[in-house]
Amino acid sequence: MSATIISGNFIANKLREELKQRVRTLTETWMQPGLAVILAGDNPASRVYVRNKAKTCEELGIHSEIFNFSGDTPQKTILQQIQDLNANPEIHGILVQLPLPDHIQINEIVAAIATEKDVDGFHPCNVGALATGHALFRPCTPFGIIKMLAEYDIPLQGQHAVVVGRSNIVGKPMALMLLEKGATVTICTSQTRELASHTRSADIIIMATGKPGLLTSGMIKAGATVIDVGINRLANGQLCGDVEFSGAKEKAGYITPVPGGVGPMTITMLMNNTIEAAERAKAKAQVEARDGSVQQF
Ligand code: GUN
Repeated sequence: MSATIISGNFIANKLREELKQRVRTLTETWMQPGLAVILAGDNPASRVYVRNKAKTCEELGIHSEIFNFSGDTPQKTILQQIQDLNANPEIHGILVQLPLPDHIQINEIVAAIATEKDVDGFHPCNVGALATGHALFRPCTPFGIIKMLAEYDIPLQGQHAVVVGRSNIVGKPMALMLLEKGATVTICTSQTRELASHTRSADIIIMATGKPGLLTSGMIKAGATVIDVGINRLANGQLCGDVEFSGAKEKAGYITPVPGGVGPMTITMLMNNTIEAAERAKAKAQVEARDGSVQQF
């Protein structure tokens, strides 16, 4: 039997209606939420992602600013830009699009972002907070995947989840979030020996390797849930995921397509995190205003 296709577009559109309402409330009662995106270099995929982020901000009523730097910009220039944005009260979320040019130390850039504006959840303090069960911001792609699984009532408690990929953006935070939900988690990479022996025992497989078609139907337990994070462009220009979709959809119980699966959810969760950052800033401003007026008496 053919798998149920998990539509990221459908869930994202539904969530975006709720997000629009939160933006309206913030804008009417306080101020418009604001997101700053820093892009360095001319990676064509990054340019498309950043454009899509700005477009989605506009659709939802979020103020956005894009800061474009050339590929040879010194690290200190980008650090200065981050400091300025940290201090800018109209900006509630800051995202530095990855990857960055080779001469830039990603860890130093990420650590410079104010933790309360780190809507990617990549700052070491926010990674630690997630790992210890006190997340401030959940990284957008794995957060979107958790939302998709919940929307389709796919259980996680006690289930065996196999995450293939160990990146800081997807694989590692994904494993932490699945653990948080009570799953038994195995982390593999594209280099794992006998990868199929792991994936075949999984109730849920998350593929995040950037290797087109790495997961084939023979590596999937019948009825398992398959989530494909890969966005690979083939020589013929076609987009494809890390899953060999036509075979896998005949074996899996649930499966995400590429495109139209995880991608729209990632941007939606970025919008969610930006709005949440603004809501927290509003609450903090209200407490400060109240305490300030108390002190005046
Ligand atoms: N590059 C690919 N995915 C991401 C992401 O989620 N955040 C950032 N900042 N860069 C990325």
